[in-house]
Amino acid sequence: MSLTLRPMTEGDWSDWIAVDEEAFGAPIPPHREERFKENTEFERSLGAYDGDLLVGATAVFSFTMTVPGGPIPVGGVTAVGVLPSHRRRGVLTALMTRQLADLHERGEAVAALYASEAVIYGRFGYGRAADTMTFDIPRSGGAFVPHAPADPSLRLRIVRPAEAREVFEKVFDAALGSRPGLYARTPARWDGVLGDHEADQGGAGPLRAVVAEDDGGPRGYALFRIKADWTGNNLPDGELRLKEVFGLDPAAYALLWRHLLDRDLVSRIKAWNRPADDPLIHLLADARQLNAGWLDDLWVRVVDVERALPARRYSAPVDVVIEVEDAVCPWNARRWRLSADVSGARCTPVDDAADLVLPVSVLGAAYLGGRPLAALQAAGVVREARAGAVRELSAAMAWDPAPCAGLIF
Ligand SMILES: CC(C)(COP(=O)(O)OP(=O)(O)OC[C@H]1O[C@@H](n2cnc3c(N)ncnc32)[C@H](O)[C@@H]1OP(=O)(O)O)[C@@H](O)C(=O)NCCC(=O)NCCS
Repeated sequence: MSLTLRPMTEGDWSDWIAVDEEAFGAPIPPHREERFKENTEFERSLGAYDGDLLVGATAVFSFTMTVPGGPIPVGGVTAVGVLPSHRRRGVLTALMTRQLADLHERGEAVAALYASEAVIYGRFGYGRAADTMTFDIPRSGGAFVPHAPADPSLRLRIVRPAEAREVFEKVFDAALGSRPGLYARTPARWDGVLGDHEADQGGAGPLRAVVAEDDGGPRGYALFRIKADWTGNNLPDGELRLKEVFGLDPAAYALLWRHLLDRDLVSRIKAWNRPADDPLIHLLADARQLNAGWLDDLWVRVVDVERALPARRYSAPVDVVIEVEDAVCPWNARRWRLSADVSGARCTPVDDAADLVLPVSVLGAAYLGGRPLAALQAAGVVREARAGAVRELSAAMAWDPAPCAGLIF
């Protein structure tokens, strides 16, 4: 196989879709293909060719993503697929290596992705940076703690999702800066969130929405579907499937969840993409009723250590020398002094002795503030050369709230 790599053009679109469909073993419905095309920046795509045959592909979305301290540009890596006839012959390795070099050249210091399988991207320097919880709550387990917040000025309004898009956008944009991992949505991205073709419904009926508001305007919303069902004995057995819920304050958030947990004829509430510190954990009187599962959300790659580390804020002052191991992006592989205080952070190349040694995937895992370095040290992934250095960097990189994008791209 003689492999060449080049960005794809609109003329390559049908070949690209064919590779993705074959790689994922599933057809892409026409409306999803259209949305994907609207979001695609062809100049940021990359195709791998064996002669004239497209055998692998990937692309990058130019995201603005919240990281600790504010928004930064982040490369959202997507649509990774290799033709099954060409798998395990280094096509992905070639694509990843070139894509990271392109990101570096472009000055995009951080990349993020969702992984179809958790074992794929660590070797390319991505670290599991954000977790997501799945909830499966029986309706009978939805009681709140006695001191749950309530605000009599709040009211709920059932809306048709297609008619309330501006309300959702207003709430989401207000929430965007509050949690690392959230990324700004283009109109085409919103089309995807509010997409309601039969293929989007998964047998659970049309998208439904409720808004929490007061006289001053919206303070939150929830998007969900309800799969209505009945047991053999004619008892209600509906399932509410949550798509997303944002509340701009505790009372609005609690009221939205009260609504989701109290819908008549629903016997369980399922959610797939909740942040690891979801306030619902503390609102429910019995958090065991969440029947929570634990999955990976975003994987993050520090593409350029020198630019990425000063681009975020730190929770505590820190001054450490970090030796970074990075076989894929050799410009990162050296010792760096990270100094951060209230005035900001600096990262400079140094020859000083290292305080700690870590693979670049660890910096990615910790970048959004949700992965304590001490746990990675206990796993033997981070090596401490000066006593206390791991704790110092861990405390500085930790951030509240926990990161979560909650929306696959
Ligand atoms: C995942 C995928 C892109 C890998 O492509 P590929 O060209 O076979 O990968 P490479 O040959 O470059 O593999 C590089 C290394 O990763 C390993 N690897 C790649 N995919 C893997 C997987 N799914 N599970 C375990 N190991 C995997 C390979 O074994 C190889 O290891 P080695 O260097 O020790 O030999 C391809 O299998 C695919 O298209 N899968 C289906 C679609 C998909 O899941 N895409 C990812 C979306 S996030």
